[in-house]
Amino acid sequence: MTRHLLRDDDLSPAEQAEVLDLALSLKKDRWKLKPLEGPQTVAVIFDKSSTRTRVSFAVGIADLGGSPLIISTANSQLGGKETPSDTARVLERQVAAIVWRTYAQAGLEEMARGTRVPVVNALSDDFHPCQLLADLLTIREHKGDLAGLTLSFFGDGQSNMGHSYVLAGVTAGMHVRVASPEGYGPREDVVADAQRIAAQTGGSVTILVDPLEAASGADVIVTDTWVSMGKEEEKIARIRDLGAYKVTQQTMDAAADGAIFMHCLPADRGYEVDADVIDGSHSVVWDEAENRLHAQKALLVWLLRQQ
Ligand code: CP
Ligand code: NVA
Repeated sequence: MTRHLLRDDDLSPAEQAEVLDLALSLKKDRWKLKPLEGPQTVAVIFDKSSTRTRVSFAVGIADLGGSPLIISTANSQLGGKETPSDTARVLERQVAAIVWRTYAQAGLEEMARGTRVPVVNALSDDFHPCQLLADLLTIREHKGDLAGLTLSFFGDGQSNMGHSYVLAGVTAGMHVRVASPEGYGPREDVVADAQRIAAQTGGSVTILVDPLEAASGADVIVTDTWVSMGKEEEKIARIRDLGAYKVTQQTMDAAADGAIFMHCLPADRGYEVDADVIDGSHSVVWDEAENRLHAQKALLVWLLRQQ
């Protein structure tokens, strides 16, 4: 059966663990497995800018023995003259999988309904599940077993990263806290879905307003830009509203001993995080960026094995 990764809870807890195990083994032996050998091409489509996602998919697909076909929407018919489902029907006859960074989650859903090859969300307005696989891999490497750890996210809880931490974190059995001001909390339906998953995994999700309460005793401190792609016009209001949620040394001091700091990047130093935190000894952001490669290789191998 064709499987897709459109949002983090498309993987069950057991499947998420399987992909992370595979990612660790692929990281240990980067060149061993070439399951895409042969004329297998993966289309990687971008409606929004990207450095890490573009590079890690291109390098990862090549590592696996396949060919990446990087498509910029501006130079294709998608996003103008052609629907996601017609595009999907054209691509499925020539590529092994479709990876797409876009705005609306509904477009990804339409693409997935229209095709028999796996569709991967490489970031939408609502979720960033590939980033979360890399983040969970990084947390496993630095903190060991994920289940039972406390992860606290600061800032725009309604962003793709806020939502993905909530869903992927509880899938891994973590206690996820989100600290956001009024009006910036995660969507209620996402929190309800996370609570259902948490009931099976022993994780939890807690929505807070007080940033220091969220930081208290946490194992992992995370934040993301206050101005996600597509929100540029709200920049001034967002800087005003989210100012109290900046991750500072005080945040790290309130966290558990040995807490790590994470950020999916790109970062605005001085806004959502102070330079001494992101560039300091608790920061694991460069491991996190590297792990995009290993996590996405594992994801592609796993999805293609389900075909
Ligand atoms: N973290 C992340 O997705 O980075 P890019 O926007 O550079 O791909
Ligand atoms: N929330 C950010 C993530 C960038 C990788 C954005 O959507 O711009």
